[in-house]
Amino acid sequence: MPDSLTVTDNRTGRTYDVPIENGAIRASAFEQMSAADSDHGLMVYDPAFMNTASCTSRVTYIDGDRGILLYRGYPIEQLAEHSTFLETAYLLVHGELPSASQAAEWQHEVTIHTLVHENVKTFIDGFHHDAHPMGILLSTVGALSTFYPDATRIYDADQRRISIYRLIAKMPTLAAFAYRHSRGYPYIYPDNDLSFAGNFLSMLFKMVELQYRPAPEVEKALDVLFILHADHEQNCSTNAMRCVGSSHPDPYSATAAAIAALYGPLHGGANEAVVRMMERIGSTDRIPDFIAGVKAGKERLMGFGHRVYKNYDPRAKVLKQMAEQVLSVTATSPLIEVARELERIALEDEYFVKRKLYPNVDFYSGFIYRAIGIPVEMFPVLFAIPRTAGWLSQWEESLLDKEQKISRPRQVYLGERARDYAPMDRRG
Ligand code: CMC
Repeated sequence: MPDSLTVTDNRTGRTYDVPIENGAIRASAFEQMSAADSDHGLMVYDPAFMNTASCTSRVTYIDGDRGILLYRGYPIEQLAEHSTFLETAYLLVHGELPSASQAAEWQHEVTIHTLVHENVKTFIDGFHHDAHPMGILLSTVGALSTFYPDATRIYDADQRRISIYRLIAKMPTLAAFAYRHSRGYPYIYPDNDLSFAGNFLSMLFKMVELQYRPAPEVEKALDVLFILHADHEQNCSTNAMRCVGSSHPDPYSATAAAIAALYGPLHGGANEAVVRMMERIGSTDRIPDFIAGVKAGKERLMGFGHRVYKNYDPRAKVLKQMAEQVLSVTATSPLIEVARELERIALEDEYFVKRKLYPNVDFYSGFIYRAIGIPVEMFPVLFAIPRTAGWLSQWEESLLDKEQKISRPRQVYLGERARDYAPMDRRG
C-alpha cells in the first residue's frame, strides 16, 4: 500500500490521492479540489498553526508526549551536563559538535566580536531610565543592521558567517548595556579572558574592581540556562525569525522581529510573569485561592502548560534540580516554597491533569536568575541571548531550503463582498 490519503470531495463526488511524506500531507494538494470553476480550490484552515508544519527542519526535535528535546539529535540533559553554551551554539549552527580546532576558532570568533560601536551607547542613553530592557534590546539589535549594511548579502556564506558571530557575540553586550542604563551605572566593556557566561556577568555586575571574577557555581548555572534556552524548534519567535527572514532582510532585522515575538508573556516574557505571580501569591496558604481563580478562568498559572509538551518539560526538570542547588549556595528565596507547593497542588488537581498542564522551562528559571542577582525585567532578555543561536540556525536553514519562499499565509475571508461607497448622509 502506498503512503497516501484518499480523499473524496462529496460536493463533486471526485476522489483524489494525496501522498503522505514524512508523516505529513502537502496543503497545496488540496488546491486541485474545487467545486466550481470560480472557486480557487480548498484551503487548509489552521489558526495558530495548531497542526501545520511550515517547514522541514534538522535542527531541534521535540516529542511532547514523552518529554524529549534533542538539539541535532543530542538529548538536552546530556548537553546541559557535559557541554557549554558556546559548543551547543556551534552544534545548532553547524549540525555537528566541533573538533578541538573548530571549537577554538568558534570561541575566538565569537569572543572578538563582543564589542559594539560606540554610537550604540549614545542611542541607549536616549531611552527613558525605566525603559524595559527587552524594548532596548530589540531596538538596538534592529539598529545593528544599519552598522553592517553588507549583512543584506544573505546569500554570501561569508556574510552570513560573520553576522552569526556578531549576533551571538554582541547580544550579551547589548543586554548588559540595557541593564546598566536602567541602573544609571557606567557601561562595562567585554572581558575577553572570561567565558561567554562569565563575561556577561562581568558586564552586568562589575563595579570598580580591576577585574570581575564570577562565582564558578553562578557562571556554570547561567551557562546551563543558556544551553536549555538555545533552541526550541518552531515556536512563536522562531516562526517570526523565519517569516521575516523569508522576505530577505539582513539577519539583524529578522532577529529584532524574533525578539519582539519573544517579549510577550505567553512566550519569553513568561519567566518574568512567573516571578511576579509568585510575589503576588506571597505564601503557601494563599495558593488554594489562587488556584481557584485560575480554574475559574480569571488568570493563568504562568510557567505551566505548553503547546507541544503534554508531559513534564525536560528543561523544567533540569532547572528544578538546578534551582535547589543554586539556592543552596546563594541566599534562598521564600518564594521557592510557594513554587514547590504550587507545582505539587497543580500536578494533582483534576483541572491541570485533564489538560496535561505541566511546569515548563519558565517555572523555575526565574528563581535561578533572581538568586544570581538578576532583576526580574531582565529575565526575557536572558532568554533572548542564547535563543539567538537557535534563531540563526533556523534562519540559515530556511534561507538554504529550496522549497521555501516568502511567507504568505492564506485567509478564509468572512467579511463583506463588494458594495458601493455610501456618502455620509446616506449611512444607517
Ligand atoms: N493556566 C491555566 N490554564 C491553562 C494554562 C495555564 N498556564 N495553559 C493552558 N491552560 C488551559 C486553557 O485555559 C485551555 O483550557 P480549556 O480547554 O478549558 O479552554 C487548555 O488549557 C488549553 O490551553 P491553550 O491556551 O489552548 O493552549 P496553547 O497551546 O494555545 O497555549 C501556552 C500554550 C504556553 C500559551 C499556555 O499553556 C499558557 O498560556 N501558559 C502560561 C504562559 C507560559 O508559561 N508560557 C511559557 C511557555 S514555555 C516557554 C516558551 O517556549 O515560550
